Amino acid sequence: MKTEKNLMDAFSGESQANRKYLAFAKKAEKEGFKNVARIFRAIAEAETIHALKHFEVAGKVGSTLENLETAVEGEHHEYTKMYPEFINAAEEEEQKKAKTSFEYANAAEKVHGKTFEEMKKMVENGQDVEDKDAFLCPVCGWVGLDPAPDRCPICNTPSKSFQKF
Ligand SMILES: [Fe+2]
Ligand SMILES: [Fe+2]
Repeated sequence: MKTEKNLMDAFSGESQANRKYLAFAKKAEKEGFKNVARIFRAIAEAETIHALKHFEVAGKVGSTLENLETAVEGEHHEYTKMYPEFINAAEEEEQKKAKTSFEYANAAEKVHGKTFEEMKKMVENGQDVEDKDAFLCPVCGWVGLDPAPDRCPICNTPSKSFQKF
């Protein structure tokens, strides 16, 4: 069946379109095109609606326990295989900015993976996790629970920049 693969291809494309348009909106704002930025954001959101629908129709959303297992595997793949290889290649090719971008992501994925594993243990016992604020570093993507450290443990960004969830 072609449709199964097509749904996942469309999911990838729409997911990327969402992030692209958000990057383009940021740029439009910087260049003083406020309304172009606003419409980029609206259409970015539309691409997310498409992406989520394709993903759901493809049958990729399981129970929360299954989804946590998927998340643990994904993060594990990224920090044990994908990013280490990408970091080495960037090093060899002397691509400093790319190397830093990969290193930030790699370090953050390790923390994401651990967080997902801890949540999985709770959900396996039928329990939700504790009602604690989560903090996101907007520079490197580190996520930690309350209490937040003074600075990001990965990139040293001060906690006042953290986004709270
Ligand atoms: Fe991650
Ligand atoms: Fe950070």
